[in-house]
Amino acid sequence: MKQLGLIGRTLGHSFSAKYFAEKFERESLTEEFSYKLYELPAIEDVEEFIASTPNLLGFNVTIPYKQQIIPFLDDLTPEARNIGAVNCVKILPDGRRLGYNTDVDGIRLTLDKLIGEDSVKSALVLGSGGASQAVRYVLGERGIECLVVSRNSTSGDITYDDLSTDVIAANELIINASPVGMYPRVEECPNLPYHLLTPKHKLFDLVYNPQVTLFMERGMAQGAQAVSGLDMLYAQAESAWRIWNQ
Ligand SMILES: NC(=O)c1ccc[n+]([C@@H]2O[C@H](COP(=O)([O-])OP(=O)(O)OC[C@H]3O[C@@H](n4cnc5c(N)ncnc54)[C@H](OP(=O)(O)O)[C@@H]3O)[C@@H](O)[C@H]2O)c1
Repeated sequence: MKQLGLIGRTLGHSFSAKYFAEKFERESLTEEFSYKLYELPAIEDVEEFIASTPNLLGFNVTIPYKQQIIPFLDDLTPEARNIGAVNCVKILPDGRRLGYNTDVDGIRLTLDKLIGEDSVKSALVLGSGGASQAVRYVLGERGIECLVVSRNSTSGDITYDDLSTDVIAANELIINASPVGMYPRVEECPNLPYHLLTPKHKLFDLVYNPQVTLFMERGMAQGAQAVSGLDMLYAQAESAWRIWNQ
C-alpha cells in the first residue's frame, strides 16, 4: 500500500482527505493508495513522521508549515523557491525529498477561466500572506502588474483606505488572498468600496467555503464576474497526485 497524507498542526476538516478518499473509491485505487492526516505539534516532528511511515510516496503540507518545511527538504522547484512556500512534497525512491507549490497550478487554471482572452494589465491582491505570494508569482508570469492591499502600510503596497475611485477603476482584476469571508464568518467581506465595481471587474476569491462568498456576491450585484477558490482547490490536489505518480 502506497501512503500519502497531509501534515499540519490541526487538521479537523480536511478537504484533501475527503477528496482523495473519494477519488480512490471512484477510481478503484483503495487497495493501492491510502491518504491519511498527520497532525504534527511541531515541524521537527516531520523527521519522525517520514522515518516511521512505510511506503511514503509524498504528502501535502498546510498551515502553519508551508514555509517551515523548507529546511527539511533536499530540493525545491524554482517556483516553490521563488514563492517561499511548499504545499506538496514528493519522496524519491532514494529518500530525497522534493518540495513543490501546486497552489500556482490552481491559480493559473482559475485565471485562465476568469480572464480568458481578455487583456488585463493590473490587479489588486488583498492580503500579504503565503497565498498572496503564490498569486503574485502567477500574475508576474503573465505580465500583470499588481498592488498588494494590506491592513497596514508596511506589509503591502497600499492599505484599504487607499482604495479610491481611480485605484478601483485602474485595477479590473481583484483577488482576495485573505481569509476574510471564510466559513464560519460568512457575513464578512474584504473592506472594499463595492459601489465602485463595474461589469468590467473580475473577482477571484481564494476562499472556497462558502462557494459563493459575500465578496463575490457584492461584486456580482455590481455586474462583475466572480469565481471562488473551489476550482483552485481541486486543481492543486490533482497536481499533487500527478507529481506523486510521475
Ligand atoms: N482555494 C485554494 O486552493 C486555496 C489555497 C491556499 C489558500 N487558500 C485560501 O486563501 C486564504 C489566504 O491563505 P493564507 O495561507 O495566505 O492565509 P494567511 O497567511 O492566514 O492570511 C493571508 C493574509 O490575509 C490578511 N488577513 C488575515 N486576516 C485578516 C483579516 N481578519 N482581515 C483582513 N485581512 C486579513 C493578512 O494580510 P495583511 O496583514 O497584509 O492584511 C494575511 O497575511 C485563506 O482563506 C485560504 O483558505 C485557498
